[in-house]
Amino acid sequence: MIIAQISDLHVQPAGQRAYGIVDTNRLLAAAIDQLNRLQPQPDLVIASGDLVDERTAAEYEMLKALLAPLRAPLYLAMGNHDNRTAFRTVFPDLPYLPPTGFVHYVLEEYPVRIIVLDTLVDGAGYGDMDAERLTWLQAQLAAQPHQPTIIFMHHPPFATGLLGMDQSRCRGNEALADLIAQHPNVQRVACGHLHRSIQTMWAGTVGSVAPSVAHQVALKLSEAQPPALVMEPPAFHLHLWDDATGLVTHTAFIGEFAAYSCQTKAAIALYA
Ligand SMILES: [Fe+2]
Ligand SMILES: [Fe+2]
Repeated sequence: MIIAQISDLHVQPAGQRAYGIVDTNRLLAAAIDQLNRLQPQPDLVIASGDLVDERTAAEYEMLKALLAPLRAPLYLAMGNHDNRTAFRTVFPDLPYLPPTGFVHYVLEEYPVRIIVLDTLVDGAGYGDMDAERLTWLQAQLAAQPHQPTIIFMHHPPFATGLLGMDQSRCRGNEALADLIAQHPNVQRVACGHLHRSIQTMWAGTVGSVAPSVAHQVALKLSEAQPPALVMEPPAFHLHLWDDATGLVTHTAFIGEFAAYSCQTKAAIALYA
C-alpha cells in the first residue's frame, strides 16, 4: 500500500502568487502531474493542510480545479490557512467528511487504518487538540486497538528545533502524547505545517513532517532567526506500508532531474 502525502499547497486565486513571490498554483499542478506519472500509482493521496492561503472560497474553487486531474483517491485535511466554512461550501459532497464541526475522519478501507485530525484554530497560526478533539480521537483509537494506524494532522505536536516555527505547533500535545503512547498500534504521526522533511521519535512512535509541494521554510535552528521561506525543491512524502516491513517513508522531489542508468561509466564509478 502506498500513501502519497502532499502538504502546504497554499493555493491562490488565479494569477496571484503567495506573498507576491511563489506561484503555488503552478507548483501544485506540477505536483499533481508527477503523482499521476508514479508507477505504481499511490492507493490514496492525503493533502495535510494549508490547502489554500487566505481562506477564501475563490481559492478553494481554484484548488478544486487544480486537483481535478489527480488519478488517485484524494483526502483533504485542514491547516491554519484553511477555513472550514469556505472549504465545505466548495467541497459540499465529499463522502468522508462530517457535515458540520471539525473536519476529522477515519478511513477504514485500507490495510492501514488512517485517522485524519483537524487541528485548526480559527484565526491562529498554532494548532490545538483540545478536550473535545482529544475525546473524539480517544474513541477512534479505542475502537480498533490492534489495527496498524497512521494519524495525519497539520500541526506537529512535537518540537523540531526550528524554534521560530515550533512556537506554532499543536497545543494539547502532552495529553495527546499520553493518549498515543497507550496505543502502540499507532505507526506514525504524519504532519505538515513546517514545509520541511523532518523525522523524530515522539510518544512511542515516529513523528514525521512532509515538505511543501510549493515553498519550503528555511533551515534556521536559532530563536534569533525568524522563519523565512526558501525556494528549495518542492517535494512530497510516499509512505509505503507492508505487513512484513512496516512503514517506510520516501521523500520524492518534484521536477525533472538528470538520471543515469547503472550501465553508464559515471554511475558504475558512483556505486561500485
Ligand atoms: Fe503552510
Ligand atoms: Fe500551516
